[in-house]
Amino acid sequence: MSEIKNVINQASVYLNEEDQLVIIDQTQLPNRLIHLVMNTPEDCYKAIYLLQVRGAPAIGIFAGYSMYVLSKPLVDLPYTEFLSQFHNQKEYINSSRPTAVNLSWALNRMERKLLESDCTNTKDALHILRQEAVRIHEEDILMCKAISEYGLSLIKDGDGILTHCNAGPLATSRYGTATGPIFLGRERGMQFKVFCDETRPLLQGARLTSYELTRAGVDTTLICDNMASVVMKNGWIDAVFVGCDRVAANGDFANKIGTNTVAILAKHYGIPFYTLGPSSTIDFNTASGDDIVVELREPAEIKTMWYKEPMALEETKCYNPSYDVTSHELVTGIVTERGIVYPPFEENLEKLFLK
Ligand code: MRU
Repeated sequence: MSEIKNVINQASVYLNEEDQLVIIDQTQLPNRLIHLVMNTPEDCYKAIYLLQVRGAPAIGIFAGYSMYVLSKPLVDLPYTEFLSQFHNQKEYINSSRPTAVNLSWALNRMERKLLESDCTNTKDALHILRQEAVRIHEEDILMCKAISEYGLSLIKDGDGILTHCNAGPLATSRYGTATGPIFLGRERGMQFKVFCDETRPLLQGARLTSYELTRAGVDTTLICDNMASVVMKNGWIDAVFVGCDRVAANGDFANKIGTNTVAILAKHYGIPFYTLGPSSTIDFNTASGDDIVVELREPAEIKTMWYKEPMALEETKCYNPSYDVTSHELVTGIVTERGIVYPPFEENLEKLFLK
C-alpha cells in the first residue's frame, strides 16, 4: 500500500526547512511536478488566481501560511504599522478568488488570532502567526481523515463512484474530502470503481483526480463531463462524491462548474449524491445559494488554453462561470468531520455546528 502513502503524504502546500512557503504548481500536473516558493504578496495572489494552488481547504491552508511568511519582512516596523500592513496584505490576498469561503475564513482567523492576543511586538506576532497557520493545516489533516471515515460508511467494497473536479490530497491535506473514503477504503483492502469527470474547462478531474487515484492503485476511469449520464444509466454508479467550496446555511453549496448537472442526473437515476467538506467550508453567514458570489473567468480557458490552435473565433463570446450552485433539494447528505448531515439541512447543520 506504499502507492497510497506516496499520494496522500505529498503535501501540496507546506513550509520547507528554510521556513519558506512552497506549493506544488497544480497547473503543471500531471506532466511536471514543479514546486514553487512564494516570496511576495503578488506571488501568493497569483498562485491562487491562476489555480497553481487550488481546492477550498488547500487555499485556506495556503492563506494561513501566506499571512505568516508575508509578515516576516515587516518585522522591523513599529507594531501599529505592522498591523496595518498585515491587514492590507490580507485584503489583497482575499481579493484573489471570491467563491471558496476557506480563503476568507483562514485570513480572518489569522488576523483575529493576532488582534485577540496580548501581543505588542512584531517578533511575538510572527510566532503567533506561524503557530496558527500550522494549526489550520493540522486541523485540516484531522478533518479530512474524519470526513473519510464517515464517507466510507456510505459505500461498500466494489461500488462504483462518480466524482467531479478534484477534492483529493492536492486540494486538501492527506486523504482529501470527496476522495478520502476511496483512499481510506483502498488502504483497508477495498476496491472501488471510480469514474472521474474530466471537469471542463480546467480539467482538474483529468489532470489531478485521475492522476492521484491511478497512482494510488485505484481502479480509475476518466470520462468527459457529458458522459456522466451514460455511466449512471448503465448502472455503474452507486454514489456520487463531490467536494464543496461554500456550503450555505440551508445546505445549498457551490462547487466546480458542472456539479449541479451531476446532481440533477443523480436525482434522475436515483443515485445518492453527497458533498463532503470540512466545517471551514460551511458559511452560516450565507443564507442560501442565491447569496454565493460565483467567480467568472477568462474566455481563454475555454477557447485556447488546452489547444494548439484556437477552438473558436477570437470574436466569439464565452460565458465561463468557475462554479455552480447545487440546491440542497438535490443533496442526499453533507459529509463533515462531525458526521453526516441529512435533511432538513438548515436545522441539522445548525444543530451540529452552532449549538
Ligand atoms: O476552481 P477549483 O479547482 O479551485 O475548484 C475546486 C473545487 O470545486 C473543489 O471541488 C472544491 O474546492 C473542494 S476541494 C476539497
